Amino acid sequence: MNIAVFASGRGTNLQAIIDAVNRGEIKAAISLVISDRSDAKALDRAKKAGIEAVCINPRDFSSREEFDKQAISYLEKSDVVLVVLAGFMRLLSPYFVDRYRNRIMNIHPSLLPSFKGTSGIKDAWKYGMKITGVTVHFINEDLDAGPIILQKPVMIEETDIPSSLEEKVHRVEHQIYPEAIKLFIEGRLEVIGRRVKIRAI
Ligand code: GRF
Repeated sequence: MNIAVFASGRGTNLQAIIDAVNRGEIKAAISLVISDRSDAKALDRAKKAGIEAVCINPRDFSSREEFDKQAISYLEKSDVVLVVLAGFMRLLSPYFVDRYRNRIMNIHPSLLPSFKGTSGIKDAWKYGMKITGVTVHFINEDLDAGPIILQKPVMIEETDIPSSLEEKVHRVEHQIYPEAIKLFIEGRLEVIGRRVKIRAI
């Protein structure tokens, strides 16, 4: 089974997934990494791991849907069963979401539905939360709102500053994203409305 990872930035989650595949924990191949930024470190990580790395420049397309159709043509070429968004900073069109319904995952650095958006870690810290965490969810048409697959809490200590909290959150991300992908690949996720049921082996 083939997975594609979409990433715009550093790609530390991509790396955690590559490592989990290489350790044999996820029985699938990462056949493709797509980025909307040519300078994304994620593309270098992909190349280093021998994975096809593609940059699709949004400026080359007149609409979100046209960009997404280009991405889909790559996905179809390598028979991708699961799209993993790992720090991908573009919204997907309703066309894409519908085409890959319940087959697109995202990771978000807070316990959704709290602290949606692009600065979930800092926002939770600023708010004075005692607990935050990480959410892996399927994508739907609304931002950070699809059915939740896994969540894990992270305690915020008084001594934490945004950068130390970020480190803790990332550590948890690198643990639960591969876990969620493994569950999908094993066919153990069943989406019932907003709920994701995890079947026992
Ligand atoms: C992560 O914090 C993830 O939760 C968010 O974007 C960040 C990506 O980090 N969606 P990286 O590029 O995987 O290092």
